Amino acid sequence: MEANPPPSHTITVHWRQEGRVIRHQVPEGAYILRSFEEQGDPLPFSCRNGCCTACAVRVLSGSIDQHEALGLSRELRSRGYGLLCVARAIGPLELETQDEDEVYELQFGRHFGRGRVRPGLPLEEE
Ligand code: FES
Repeated sequence: MEANPPPSHTITVHWRQEGRVIRHQVPEGAYILRSFEEQGDPLPFSCRNGCCTACAVRVLSGSIDQHEALGLSRELRSRGYGLLCVARAIGPLELETQDEDEVYELQFGRHFGRGRVRPGLPLEEE
């Protein structure tokens, strides 16, 4: 006897950089980025491991399983950001893409551009 296929969910992405709204059915538990690629819509990415923020999105409605998103702080997750490369479909979802620098700046910006790096010494605040 053949097992029933998993249910699929409607995932809508507002692809801001391209000025397009794209929508696909993604099987429950499947990676959204990969599923969109397989259906002809390759969204922005870089590392594909949840570590770089190139695939950052903001959740407009619904929720995603992104327990593998190591590169996104808990605070940004709670503010509705997600990393699409490691996000799995768990229900209907509407997202919008973000500029890579937007999420990068929110997460890391405050840690860079301060002080001098001197060999063997801690970072010097200016
Ligand atoms: S592609 Fe790097 S975090 Fe998703």
